[in-house]
Amino acid sequence: DLGLGCGLPTQFAQIKPGNTVIDLGSGAGNDCFVARAATGVSGKVIGIDFTPAMIEKARANAEKLGFNNVEFRQGDIEQMPVTANVADVVVSNCVLNLVPNKDGVFKEIFRVLKPGGHFSISDVVLVGNLPEALRKDAEMYAGCVSGAIQKDVYLELIRVNGFENITIQKEKPIIIPDDILLNYLTPQEIATFKNGTTGIFSITVFAQKQEQTAGCCAPGCC
Ligand SMILES: C[S@@+](CC[C@H](N)C(=O)[O-])C[C@H]1O[C@@H](n2cnc3c(N)ncnc32)[C@H](O)[C@@H]1O
Repeated sequence: DLGLGCGLPTQFAQIKPGNTVIDLGSGAGNDCFVARAATGVSGKVIGIDFTPAMIEKARANAEKLGFNNVEFRQGDIEQMPVTANVADVVVSNCVLNLVPNKDGVFKEIFRVLKPGGHFSISDVVLVGNLPEALRKDAEMYAGCVSGAIQKDVYLELIRVNGFENITIQKEKPIIIPDDILLNYLTPQEIATFKNGTTGIFSITVFAQKQEQTAGCCAPGCC
């Protein structure tokens, strides 16, 4: 309900009618309901969230909307309550930055995706080292920055976990208003920050799990 997402992963997720979609950190269920419009009644959407109050809210919203192919499961996305190779598409909106073990989450995404399946994830990443005072302010301001990691490290985590066709579908700087910056930085420090290359970015990133090839015996593919 608070609309805390970083982007609109469902807009880029190429969800087709009949698909099974998993939304990581589904909150009140907003992205699940958008995904459901794309899967149609022949598809299925599973939202996972570890906060009982959010699961309760999402289930109440699904009930109100009369959707019976959207399911909410309580669990940690580092250990998803889902069997392997079930999802055509995984989406997530402003959640992985909150998870300390991002590598574990990408391993889990790889496990739950079908061969040939893909993800579109919107998240917050950093480029360069933010001034300490600003980093603290950004934590307070955006909430989602404290756990964010460097963009190149984020993309490398995706690559080392076996994904291919890694593409940034959308990238947008997160602009902190001057009146907030002034609480932490001098006008000169603000000018230096704004003219530099350091920043906080919202990205939507796509990647794919390889199609199963006949005779393949690599880990996760037999
Ligand atoms: C910023 S909100 C985003 C909610 C939703 N995706 C949206 O865009 O409206 C983050 C959500 O992720 C959930 N979350 C954070 N870490 C999680 C984890 N490790 N496993 C499952 N859910 C998690 C929180 O409970 C919260 O509902």
